Amino acid sequence: MPAITLTTLQGLKQKGEKITMLTCYDATFAHACNEAGVEVLLVGDSLGMVLQGHDSTLPVTTAEMAYHVACVKRGNSDALILADLPFMAYATTEQAMTNSALLMQAGAHMVKVEGALWLADSIRLLAERGIPVCAHMGLTPQSVNILGGYKVQGRNENQARQMRADAISLEQAGAAMLLLECVPSELAEEISHAVKIPVIGIGAGSATDGQVLVLHDMLGLSITGRVPKFVKNFMTGQPNIQAALSAYVAEVKAATFPGIEHGFSA
Ligand code: KIV
Repeated sequence: MPAITLTTLQGLKQKGEKITMLTCYDATFAHACNEAGVEVLLVGDSLGMVLQGHDSTLPVTTAEMAYHVACVKRGNSDALILADLPFMAYATTEQAMTNSALLMQAGAHMVKVEGALWLADSIRLLAERGIPVCAHMGLTPQSVNILGGYKVQGRNENQARQMRADAISLEQAGAAMLLLECVPSELAEEISHAVKIPVIGIGAGSATDGQVLVLHDMLGLSITGRVPKFVKNFMTGQPNIQAALSAYVAEVKAATFPGIEHGFSA
């Protein structure tokens, strides 16, 4: 059991203290993130883009995710490890259970799935069987081909109403955390108040219960040179990576990151 558990994260939300999360894919960075005080390590399928060099997260397999979860587990002592179920690994409830079991057995403490209301059955079944689930809503990169690109979601009133309703339904189904990616800051704030479970944002403004960034982005590393608006390079002005990780934790805790310039309007 790590020092940080779901109960810790719930307590942070109740106290109004911001939760810190970063993506992490290996043992050395897991240790460095622990030293900096990052509370949640997300073994994200973004590894398909930043480690493997693909142009989307779709090629990533459950076996590859399990490998990286095991690497992170070896370097981690304190943080809660959240692992992505990759593309099509939870298309049915049976697949969701089988593949979540593989990630939990590799060392994850919680799994993340992308989508909306259709996830409710899988979330209920997983939670009943002891697997906490984070529901990733808004811009869901595994659906990039349906969404027509990496675009802000929930900008019109119908979409916003649906996202609010789905967030509440997924909490009722047993989701233990929500992650909102690229949604207008005001909508993310409303959803964060509407549910009791912690809500983590990326490109979702400063009012969510916590923040996450892709590790390589916040260290100023990019293959494509395209940096999303919501990213801040924490290496700027810092002597080394360890100091940049600590600066990220300090700025999220102080609610100075993200700034208004990192968010989206409706
Ligand atoms: O895979 C990932 O890194 C993610 C973040 C973008 C939140 O899901």
